[in-house]
Amino acid sequence: MKTATRFLVRRMRLSDIPQVLEVERQSFPSMWPPTAFRRELQQNRLAHYIVIGEANPAVADASGDEGPPELGPISRFLGEIKHILTGDDPAGLPPPDERAELITGFIGVWMLPDEAHIVTIAVRDSHRRQGIGEMLLIAGLDLAREKTQPLVTLEVRVSNDAAIRLYEKYGFEQVGLRPRYYSDNKEDAYILTANGVTTGDYAARLSTLREEHRARYGDFDVLGAGWHG
Ligand SMILES: CC(C)(COP(=O)(O)OP(=O)(O)OC[C@H]1O[C@@H](n2cnc3c(N)ncnc32)[C@H](O)[C@@H]1OP(=O)(O)O)[C@@H](O)C(=O)NCCC(=O)NCCS
Repeated sequence: MKTATRFLVRRMRLSDIPQVLEVERQSFPSMWPPTAFRRELQQNRLAHYIVIGEANPAVADASGDEGPPELGPISRFLGEIKHILTGDDPAGLPPPDERAELITGFIGVWMLPDEAHIVTIAVRDSHRRQGIGEMLLIAGLDLAREKTQPLVTLEVRVSNDAAIRLYEKYGFEQVGLRPRYYSDNKEDAYILTANGVTTGDYAARLSTLREEHRARYGDFDVLGAGWHG
C-alpha cells in the first residue's frame, strides 16, 4: 500500500487564493498590484496555475475540498465560501500551523500559441531550499511537454541568483535582456528559454533530474490527473 506523502502537487483552486497571495507578498514585496488570481483562474483560458500543498495531519480539513465525512453540509459550504466572504485577504487566514493544508509555493504558466511562458513562481519563505521550487518547475515543464510546446520562456531579475540557478539546472539559457524591465528599481531582466523540452534528449535530462529530486526529497504526490486538465 502506498504511504501518504507530505507534499501534494495540484491545480490551484479559488480557495487557495488567500494563501497564494500571502506567498506572493513574501516573495515579491515590491509588487503592486498583486496578481488578480481570481481573474486568472476564472477568465484567462491560457493560464495554468499549480500549487504544492503541505498536509498537516494535526488539523482537520474544513475547506470543503476534501473535508472529513463528519463535517455537515453547512460547515462544508461555509468553508468553501470563506475566501469570498473574506475577499481573498490573507489577513483572514489562521496561523500557518493551524491550517489543514499549507500552500508552500505556486507556479503560473501561460500557454501562448508560440511558447509556454512562466509568468510567476514562488516558494513560501519558511519552505525554501527543500526542493519545492524545483518540483514546481518540473510541473510547469511537464505541462509544456504535455501540450507539445517545445519552447518555454521567462523573465528574471539579473540579480536573482537563486532563481537563475534553478532555471539553469533545468537547461534554461539566456537569450536576451530587457533593459529596466522592473518598475520598482528599474532593474534589467534576462530573457531565459528552454528550447526543445519535447525532445527525447530533454525528456532524459528531466527524468534524471526528477530521480535525483526524488532521492533527495522523497515522493511528491500528484492529485488525480494533476495539472493535466
Ligand atoms: C527561486 C525560488 C522559487 C526557489 O525555490 P526553492 O524551493 O527555494 O528552490 P529549491 O530548493 O527547489 O532549489 C532548486 C535549485 O534552485 C537553486 N537555488 C535555490 N535557492 C538558491 C539559493 N538561495 N542560492 C543558490 N541557488 C539556489 C539551486 O540550483 C537549487 O538546486 P540545488 O539544491 O541542487 O543547488 C525561491 O527562492 C523563491 O520563491 N524566490 C522568491 C521569488 C522569486 O524570485 N521567483 C522567481 C521569479 S523569476
